Amino acid sequence: MAAAGFRELVARGIPEELPPMPPDEPGVNHAPPRRQVLGPAERRLALQNALRYFPERLHAALAPELAAELAASGRIYMRRFRPAYPMHARPISEYPARCVEAAAIMLMITNNLDPAVAQHPHELITYGGNGAVFQNWAQYLLTMKYLAEMTREQTLVMYSGHPLGLFPSRPEAPRVVVTNGMVIPNHSSPEDYERLCALGVTSYGQMTAGSYMYIGPQGIVHGTTITLLNAGRRYLRSPDLAGRLFVTSGPGGMSGAQGKAAVIAGCVALIAEVNPAAVRKRHEQGWVDEVESDLDKVLARVERGRRERKPLSLAYLGNVVDLWERLVAAGLEVDLGSDQTSLHNPYGGGYYPAGLSLEEANRMIAGDPRGFREKVQASLRRHIDAVNALAGRGMAFWDYGNAFLLEASRAGAAVLREDGGFRYPSYVEDIMGPMCFDYGFGPFRWVCTSGDADDLQQTDAMAAEVIEKLSAGASGERKQQLEDNLRWIRAAGEHRLVVGSQARILYADAWGRTRMALAFNQAIREGKLRAPVVLGRDHHDVSGTDSPYRETADIRDGSELCADMAVHNVIGDSFRGATWVSLHNGGGVGWGEVVNGGFGMVLDGSPEMDERIRGMIHWDVNNGIARRSWADHAGARATVLQAMAEEPRLRVTLPEVADPRLVEDAIGQNTAK
Ligand SMILES: NC(=O)c1ccc[n+]([C@@H]2O[C@H](COP(=O)([O-])OP(=O)(O)OC[C@H]3O[C@@H](n4cnc5c(N)ncnc54)[C@H](O)[C@@H]3O)[C@@H](O)[C@H]2O)c1
Repeated sequence: MAAAGFRELVARGIPEELPPMPPDEPGVNHAPPRRQVLGPAERRLALQNALRYFPERLHAALAPELAAELAASGRIYMRRFRPAYPMHARPISEYPARCVEAAAIMLMITNNLDPAVAQHPHELITYGGNGAVFQNWAQYLLTMKYLAEMTREQTLVMYSGHPLGLFPSRPEAPRVVVTNGMVIPNHSSPEDYERLCALGVTSYGQMTAGSYMYIGPQGIVHGTTITLLNAGRRYLRSPDLAGRLFVTSGPGGMSGAQGKAAVIAGCVALIAEVNPAAVRKRHEQGWVDEVESDLDKVLARVERGRRERKPLSLAYLGNVVDLWERLVAAGLEVDLGSDQTSLHNPYGGGYYPAGLSLEEANRMIAGDPRGFREKVQASLRRHIDAVNALAGRGMAFWDYGNAFLLEASRAGAAVLREDGGFRYPSYVEDIMGPMCFDYGFGPFRWVCTSGDADDLQQTDAMAAEVIEKLSAGASGERKQQLEDNLRWIRAAGEHRLVVGSQARILYADAWGRTRMALAFNQAIREGKLRAPVVLGRDHHDVSGTDSPYRETADIRDGSELCADMAVHNVIGDSFRGATWVSLHNGGGVGWGEVVNGGFGMVLDGSPEMDERIRGMIHWDVNNGIARRSWADHAGARATVLQAMAEEPRLRVTLPEVADPRLVEDAIGQNTAK
């Protein structure tokens, strides 16, 4: 489609007349029907809510159609209004906009809905089974129209996908403020979630879906590579993973990163996936090397891969429970194990129980929710039994931030220790927290809005130069991380990681992030890069997320159940220079279990942008390090002391840690006998 046609359609917003129903597109992966949770009065309310987006004269025609959608899908997606133009990130100059920031945000939104990127693009789901960009297509159309009209004197307000409107604002303020799933805390149960989503008043934005910061599975490849290398160091006493076997599941959205990361880290990865469409997509994109559905052949191929000591990613097309049980029966030794099914959403299609075909399971989710729940729980119990058997033979297993241990324990699986804790660590407790977050290393990312691969290559080279210099002056744990990151960025281009926008992920600390951003901004100013660069990060970061089952699982002062850090992070970013900010309930481990936030920043090459970069990134990283230092993490304390030495305006409260014996005596003396 010509760019002008696209511009015109975006500027039009919600069409005045009913467009034709778009045809089904073969090969597109669809979300399963959601559970029917609304009573008759609530169904009427959901329909009333949906019709608010359309002129009254269309209501008579639309009401039965949208009611039928609610009955069939459990949600009203407004399928008729899905745009006819191809959905993907275009070069920034093709978006109709009155300011460059708005055009950049449109680019990020269209990338999140690109069928090559998104998991269920027609249901506006980017990843994780329910990570939504919007609740329905009317919200998409209206948001794009507002962005096309927005000036630097306005801020767009987004309530869980619903564009509340453009409000007068200031040029220095964020252009867009997003919240997703923010509900009254006592109404944050999974039942509330289903009901409020079906009513069309809230949505689950995951972390980077509803914040327009998803960059395809690449977004998680670097973190997964780091996790594997550090798991080698920690559990196998070597980062050399040649000939080692890593078993996991789910090459879906973000979990699709595992195959690629395992190959980069040098091991043999065996990854189960029940959905043939997901396997096909990852195989075609080169994210898994081989696919096999016969378990005998799987075992033979794995043995050969190990003997050859060559990196391999093999997808097993089938249920992960069948795979684990077969590995137990065959007596195979597994070195490293994990799971990335979408257990943050266990009963809505995130986890497919053993013994049911994909189609049977999808029918049961809406048709027999109670029966489905029982199947999931029984499957989780079998799943854990098999993992326990292999762990008993030496496998190191970790929870990969998908609520696997939490949901397995709720299902009554044998996953708890005597003291009530989980038998296995979360990857944040053992690896990400003490080895990365305490030093400020987190998933920094950027997108070249020219859409030009040469721009991305140039930014890779600039980033490598920054990290090289930092590494030369570093020592200890920090140096080790910098060296891993340097290796990553030098090889990133070769690994063909781009799916969708021209984006890159690179774990970096506050010093690295700031210097890279300044280098990019200067290159834009000097015309070396052809267009602005969007900076951002996963919410899964040092300061971005309060989550007792993941990012803050290694906080031991009781504050892992508090969400001050994530909320402050977003507020602080918003007045220090972010172009857009987002605050979410429920990314990663599930609704009600986590609060997380993030930012996007559009580098335009201006000198003012240099100031914004320095101010915002400094806060964005040091907020979390200061909190981790207050929770008595030695690495964080050292990092924050260094930051204070360099910036005299930074004054962080440091803990005076009491001798545990003194505390024990004092409590003992004052405990009633
Ligand atoms: N490790 C990390 O750094 C990290 C980061 C963010 C999120 N996560 C979490 O990881 C999970 C996966 O994320 P995603 O975006 O890939 O989700 P996804 O839903 O796109 O992918 C999960 C895949 O698992 C498959 N699956 C489900 N049950 C299965 C079974 N029993 N056997 C085999 N395959 C099965 C599904 O078909 C799906 O393709 C989510 O809970 C997410 O929140 C992890």
